[in-house]
Amino acid sequence: MPQKKVMIAPSLLAANFLEVGKAVKMVDESDAAWLHLDVMDGRFVPNISFGLPVIRDIKKVSKKPLDVHLMILEPEKYAEAFRKAGADHLIVHIEACPHLHSNLQQIKALGMKTGVAINPHTPVYSLQDILQDIDTVCVMTVNPGFGGQTFIHHSFTKIQELRNLINERGVSTLIEIDGGVTLDNAKEIIDAGADVLIAGNTVFSAKDPRKVIKKLSLCTKP
Ligand code: DX5
Ligand code: ZN
Repeated sequence: MPQKKVMIAPSLLAANFLEVGKAVKMVDESDAAWLHLDVMDGRFVPNISFGLPVIRDIKKVSKKPLDVHLMILEPEKYAEAFRKAGADHLIVHIEACPHLHSNLQQIKALGMKTGVAINPHTPVYSLQDILQDIDTVCVMTVNPGFGGQTFIHHSFTKIQELRNLINERGVSTLIEIDGGVTLDNAKEIIDAGADVLIAGNTVFSAKDPRKVIKKLSLCTKP
């Protein structure tokens, strides 16, 4: 069976913020598929990161699609602004969206790919009646809010369950994994059924981040 490269989305959260331009350039020149941008509001998650003006400036130079992960309450209030700032994919949390179907219609109407993130305690089956509207499910494999945490082992079961659900439904939804991805666990994560690996610390704390991105992407999948 032909092997497909794994898609890698480096998370800028782990970069040196004095050198964001260099980090974006490094990602552009790497084998990364997307650039992952973590937006935190200090309400949905106990941390605050960066927001619209930063993304707007990154968009001016980045060649990769911007995969914007909103860890915020009421994301519908900001979806249009994130589109204008340059988001290509907009990920909202199911836990922050009592009207998820409507949120996803809004994101589609704005011309972005739809993403839904699920926290570690949220069952995969909560997506079963909305999967057809989701381009990418972002499985949180740590509690959202901080980079550099340890991958929660039970996530392997969730990834397999989600892969089965996607296959049963015959949809083309991608599985993106967020949190604690390392060179040691990447292959097991891919074998469980993931398509895209987000990696913050593993990439940005490396001496040669581009090499690490390449290595991660070579955890080939069937
Ligand atoms: C966590 C963020 C992640 C984070 C991943 O809330 O959503 O994208 O940057 O960082 P690592 O790969 O270091 O766990
Ligand atoms: Zn993220």
